[in-house]
Amino acid sequence: MKDIEYQITSPVEPTFLSKRVDSYLSERVANWGGGHILHGIEPSPGSVMMVSNDYLHVANHPEIIRAQVDCLQNTDNTMVMSAVYLHGDTAQTVFERDMATWMGRPSALLCQSGYAANVGLIQSISAPDTPVYIDMFAHTSLWEGIRSAEMQPRPYRHNDLASLESSIVRHGPGIVMLDSVYSTNGSVAPMRETVEVAKRYGCVIIVDESHSLGTHGPAGAGIVAELGLNDDVHFVTASLAKTFAGRAGIIVCSERLRFHIKYNSFPGIFSSALLPPDIAALSKTLEIVKSADLARAKVQASADYLRTGLDALGYNVDISHSQIIALEAGREQDTMKLRDALEARGVFGSVFCAPATAFKRSLIRLSVNAGLTHEDLDHVLAVCGEIRDEVDMASWPSTKRKQKREQVSMRAVS
Ligand SMILES: Cc1ncc(COP(=O)(O)O)c(C=O)c1O
Repeated sequence: MKDIEYQITSPVEPTFLSKRVDSYLSERVANWGGGHILHGIEPSPGSVMMVSNDYLHVANHPEIIRAQVDCLQNTDNTMVMSAVYLHGDTAQTVFERDMATWMGRPSALLCQSGYAANVGLIQSISAPDTPVYIDMFAHTSLWEGIRSAEMQPRPYRHNDLASLESSIVRHGPGIVMLDSVYSTNGSVAPMRETVEVAKRYGCVIIVDESHSLGTHGPAGAGIVAELGLNDDVHFVTASLAKTFAGRAGIIVCSERLRFHIKYNSFPGIFSSALLPPDIAALSKTLEIVKSADLARAKVQASADYLRTGLDALGYNVDISHSQIIALEAGREQDTMKLRDALEARGVFGSVFCAPATAFKRSLIRLSVNAGLTHEDLDHVLAVCGEIRDEVDMASWPSTKRKQKREQVSMRAVS
């Protein structure tokens, strides 16, 4: 490995620790040819960057930076403490109310991250013996919430309503958890139908809108709001480290449930609140996101353009219906080959591998953002066309799945 001298074991490591580290090094890192699968070359100026979740391209917005600087200079920043001690009207409660109003909900609770929001929410509403129905592709923070609450997950097949319903029928009413847009491959949940099934059996519903808040729905208010499901979904959660380009998370729900979660979520109680400049940035970002219809339309149009182009080149991107598009090479060696071929030509995406994907389904995620130009997208398509043989795309499991599907549909037509 280039960066780390990983043979040095001083101070002395007890055997259990050495074994744990050695197994990662020998079972994973040793297969990556001296580097780490997540890191290829450094981008150079002019590279097309499709790594960031800053979908509306607001991270460097001068008004957001100004809001933080003004806040640092003009606010009392000394109240460094857990959010449970926040009392009365504060910048945080004002922001929470603004978020709730925008999303069409009674109230909202700001958290330190999307991860903390999901873990704290689940842990604070958990009840022994309550089944939890979770889409197999749902975000790890939801799974971790289930684990920390010592609840029993009942995974259902991705976006498969029959699988969900048969499990509920077998195990009884519980909590249904899903993402609106899935972060690894950009698939979109059949939200209306999933909510219908969950409601029919009296389940609590949690939707993680991390990858749709700000990009989807009226003024960016998300898919639940867009579909008029606010009165049916108990909790919408989101990371504000995607479209909001900040470091925070949010839970929106009823006032009663917010009150309960605020004083029972362990990440809320035992970890410190965000600081005033964080809140100032988020408040300004909310104003900008609300009025960003043009950027939202551009993101969707660019994603459609890229998806159509990749499909025509033979890449299997069928599962994506959003700004997230995955090139699934499958085996890690093949994903690294793809990463290197793209990066050598100035295209940078994010490598996703185990534990973020199944072992043989590693991929490169391309995230479309409003800052990408038409030339950028055409460059990505030109590169993807050029490298097909070099990366041996024909041998990828995703390519074979696409070919099989095409054969079946041709047979059906003829
Ligand atoms: C769907 C989803 N939920 C939650 C999170 C966690 O968000 P955060 O980075 O704010 O902790 C992420 C981030 O990767 C995500 O993609």
